[in-house]
Parts: sequence; structure tokens; C-alpha cells
Amino acid sequence: MKKKKADYTHLSANQPIGIFDSGVGGLTVAKEIKRLLPNEDLIYFGDTKHLPYGEKSREAIVGYCTKITEFLLEKNCKAIVIACNSATANALQEVQELVADRVPVIDVINPVAEKVSYEIHNNVGVIATKATVNSGLYKKSIRKHNKFIKVDELATPLLVPAIEEGFKNHPITHSIIYNYLSNSKLKNIETLILGCTHYPLLIDEIKQYYGNRVRVIDSPNIVASQLKIILDKHNLLNEENHQSTYQFFLSDITKNFEKISKKFFGKSIDLELKVL
Ligand code: DGL
Repeated sequence: MKKKKADYTHLSANQPIGIFDSGVGGLTVAKEIKRLLPNEDLIYFGDTKHLPYGEKSREAIVGYCTKITEFLLEKNCKAIVIACNSATANALQEVQELVADRVPVIDVINPVAEKVSYEIHNNVGVIATKATVNSGLYKKSIRKHNKFIKVDELATPLLVPAIEEGFKNHPITHSIIYNYLSNSKLKNIETLILGCTHYPLLIDEIKQYYGNRVRVIDSPNIVASQLKIILDKHNLLNEENHQSTYQFFLSDITKNFEKISKKFFGKSIDLELKVL
């Protein structure tokens, strides 16, 4: 049976957009949304108390994600952006079922997989958390559109704790990157997907490792563009030129979150503690 087309006429353009991740990773997506859609109000939930999601069971991730989604719906969000690959890979279906077409849900894997499958014609590598790699969702989604692409996925679990510790441009992070990227699984790749929203925070170091040999995909930009297309399609883009608001809720307030969120969104933002 054909799925009924979602009807969002009950929503209005001036409602905020809800975004969530386990920690600072989703800020890479939120920052891109702010750049592309400067008139939108954003509500961000960082589940810092439960990170890393990449090490958790599917059941645990589903539990966290459904609670956060309920919270964002209560906050009157007009769209939910799952700015986390581990959450997408393990809980997308449950989040969609909970939302039940009340608002659009945008994830971080499907738009990237679709774009890559049309634009790339060579070997693709994916680095991601264990929870994402174990789901095999990148390979499945890319192969759904293009059966000829070879996809190699590698779990790179030490990167998230290093990023959450604020170890950017740090010898420890450099040696983790070197160790992972020199893995034989990634030997023949020509394109690399950063399959975790934390990793763009290390994009310079990752690009440095490869020089010009490998194209590194900018997922936050693809996700923000997809959000724009969907909001536009349903007349939900906020065209009003106003001072946009950015609200941040965290299940545990961490120094690194404070630092990166203020760097991306300005010093005047507040972080509110919210345990779900
Ligand atoms: N940023 C997340 C992702 O995209 C989650 C990292 C984690 O909490 O392990 O997978």
C-alpha cells in the first residue's frame, strides 16, 4: 500500500526547529542550519549525560531518543533533526513512529547516502561509532541507490571521547586519527564519509592526513540543505527577518559543550540543565 503523503498544514513557519545529539557533535549540524537558515529559531538538546551513544545498546539509544523527541515536540518544534548518526542508525524508525507525521523528521544518514550514491563513482569509506557501523545503515542506504559502489565501514570509537575532552590539535588525537585511517579496510578509498557528527570538529586533521588523495564529505551541509528543501516544500521556511533565538538544553553541562556552543552561537547563549 502506498504511504499517505504527510500533511503539515497545522504547523506554522515561525515555530522553532528541534535538533538533538548525544553531545557537541550535533552542533556541527546546528551551526550549518544557522548559516543556511538564519531566520530560524533553534532548540538544541545535547544528551551529555548519556554519551557516548556509540557504545550503547540499541534499546538504550531508542529510549534516550524517544524521550528527547517528546521533549522537542512539547517545545512546539516544527521539525526534528536527529543530528546524530548513532541515533539515526538505531532509533530512526522509533522516532518516526512516535512523531507519526506530526512534523518532518530529518536524519543524518539517508540524505548523505543518497547524495553520495548519485555523485560518487568510486570506493567509499565510512568512519563512525560502533553503534552506527554495527547497524550497517550507510552501506544499505548507499547500495539502495547504487549497487556498484563499494562501501567499507570502520568503527573509530576513540574519536568521540577525544573530541568531548576538547583534544583538538592534540598529539593524542593525531595518533588516534593516524591509527584508524591507516587501517587496511580504508586502503583503497577515494571518498570518506564522516559518519559521526562529532568528526567534522576534526575535519582539518583528517584532511591533513589524506592530503588531496581522498574527498572528505561535508555531511552537516548536506543535512542542513535537506532540511531547507523539506521546510520549503511545506511552506514552513521562516521568512521573517527577526533576531533568531537559540536555546540549548543539556542533560549534563560540560565545559567543552559550553566552549564549542559559544564559539558557534555567540557568548550570550545560555545552557539549561534538563534531565529527561
Ligand atoms: N555524534 C554522534 C554520532 O553522530 C554520537 C557520538 C556518540 O555519542 O557516540 O554518531
